[in-house]
Amino acid sequence: MRKTIQDFQVMVERGEKIVYLTAYDYLTAKMQERAGVDMILVGDSLGMVSLGYDTTFPVTMDDMIRHCQAVRRGAPNVFIVGDMPYMSYQASDELAIANAGRFVKEAGMDCVKLEGGGPRILDRIRAINEAGIVVMGHIGLTPQFMGQLGGYKAQGRTAKTAMSIIRQAQLIEEAGAASILVEGVPAAVGKAITERAGIPVLGIGAGSHTDGQLLIYADMVGFYDDFTPKFVKKYANVGEVLTEAFRSYAQEVRGGKFPVDSEHTYKMKDEEVAELDNLLSAEEDKR
Ligand code: KIV
Repeated sequence: MRKTIQDFQVMVERGEKIVYLTAYDYLTAKMQERAGVDMILVGDSLGMVSLGYDTTFPVTMDDMIRHCQAVRRGAPNVFIVGDMPYMSYQASDELAIANAGRFVKEAGMDCVKLEGGGPRILDRIRAINEAGIVVMGHIGLTPQFMGQLGGYKAQGRTAKTAMSIIRQAQLIEEAGAASILVEGVPAAVGKAITERAGIPVLGIGAGSHTDGQLLIYADMVGFYDDFTPKFVKKYANVGEVLTEAFRSYAQEVRGGKFPVDSEHTYKMKDEEVAELDNLLSAEEDKR
């Protein structure tokens, strides 16, 4: 059965870890539901993982909605978070509410996630929450702020910057977020945030103390290999398996080894084949 945000709170109270993965398509979502994943993020990492961009910036609301719909069809019983793409919420509360609403109304999302912890983002979190939509904050290494952060780098590595991220987490909770995702910070920072939070804290590259763990699925199965962050553990090498399968197929087609008619084609009764030969000969005779 699909978990609710209240179920995640109970899991935290019981000390049960929340299992969180990204997905972008129907098939992957289906496998994740089958594997018992608690929560799925349709991340704007879609831009790199599925659409071939260098960053998340070009991803649009329509891209996100289309992929969220596919993931929802694949995992009808999993709590799914839709990631608000770049400039879909920054400009105003009205824009943020309208776009958050699309995730719920058009794609059946249970929650929306937005990046940042500054005053403008806190206003957006408050507005979306007051509109009745479950919100997840996202702090630490926030790719939509890459220009200001100086690239894709771990955050909070000095006591002063760590304190600022810990404070942001508290403000996000006060603004009405139902959970927080912390990305790319030292384990001590993930721990300090989790110990102080009254809502579930999920971590990606934030150490082992957070209430749950997120990974980008394509990283952990060895599917996306343009860049692998330090915090990723590889559980499979799907990229190699697929490349090898494509290579074997190419060799067999070129070598006339695939298809084998007795195995890979539809059967036709002998009398139908004979009749077909007759019809073809009659056709030839007419020419
Ligand atoms: O887009 C995404 O997948 C994310 C994760 C990197 C946290 O936001």
